[in-house]
Amino acid sequence: MPDLLTTRVAVVTGGASGIGRASVLRFLAEGARVVFGDLNEANAAQLLDEVTDPARVRFVPTDVTAEADVAALVGAAVNAFGRIDVMFNNAGVGGAFGPLVETDPADWDRTFAVISRGVFLGTKHAARAMIAQGDGGVIVNNASVAGMGGGGGLTAYSAAKAAVINFTANAAVELAAHRIRVNAVCPGLVDTPLVMGRDAAAIEAQLATFQPWPELGRPEDIAGLVAFLAGPDSVFLTGTAVLADGGMVAWGPRMTGTSDPRGRTRSFVGFAEGSTGRPATRRPVADV
Ligand SMILES: NC(=O)c1ccc[n+]([C@@H]2O[C@H](COP(=O)([O-])OP(=O)(O)OC[C@H]3O[C@@H](n4cnc5c(N)ncnc54)[C@H](O)[C@@H]3O)[C@@H](O)[C@H]2O)c1
Repeated sequence: MPDLLTTRVAVVTGGASGIGRASVLRFLAEGARVVFGDLNEANAAQLLDEVTDPARVRFVPTDVTAEADVAALVGAAVNAFGRIDVMFNNAGVGGAFGPLVETDPADWDRTFAVISRGVFLGTKHAARAMIAQGDGGVIVNNASVAGMGGGGGLTAYSAAKAAVINFTANAAVELAAHRIRVNAVCPGLVDTPLVMGRDAAAIEAQLATFQPWPELGRPEDIAGLVAFLAGPDSVFLTGTAVLADGGMVAWGPRMTGTSDPRGRTRSFVGFAEGSTGRPATRRPVADV
């Protein structure tokens, strides 16, 4: 594997678990130096124990909703390793759940504080440091399929992730002049404690009803996309939201399945002429 990120310094929020943890390990494997922040110090200590080259990694206890914490996290990278090249704004929680009409505004605000404000603060402080360095940088924000439409997640979570996608586009426009690229990743369902903690068996059993790809996403799958967005092969990508969802959104409304419950579109091949008055052509095909 080429060391795309060798000599680079990456900062990861929410780096102690799931996608953030996999990204810390991927950046280290690529040769980068990494500073990660998280609220969960026990999980962070476990990750630090597993790292084979501890000289290239630092942990800073961080609450991404607190501006002073985020500024200190970025400052720690500059102090320890001299600079910051990559910021992965990844920290997240499920946030407010339950019926909208019962939702406490304080829970709504806290969801937005972690998911949207956290991304804003990470971008603000990383970009400040990158602008001062004068040679560009990369920011990747962890959004979600939930931010792309209804029904992808809890209401407050989905709305906060939609804000991340829009913020990414605006930040990319503003920061392009400084050669700072800003992109979002939009994972579908990924096997992390966030979603699989409670209902793993039920989710696995239902997978084929909402995702065409046979396997659940792994944290490493998203870390690979983040590494691509952080590396030189994505030099012309900025302001985008890249889906990594096993085809979930592509599957869309599934009208064919609804209007064709007997599966004729799978057991015959041909051409449907619609209302032209011409007869459809069709011949049976073997089961696939
Ligand atoms: N797992 C999925 O299916 C999925 C899908 C789409 C998007 N995402 C997004 O991916 C990101 C990572 O989630 P994950 O699935 O790896 O979950 P995870 O729970 O495994 O990891 C999230 C990490 O963020 C940390 N964190 C939470 N609030 C924080 C705060 N205020 N300050 C600092 N750290 C904080 C947690 O302690 C945890 O270590 C989140 O933004 C999540 O919304 C996940």
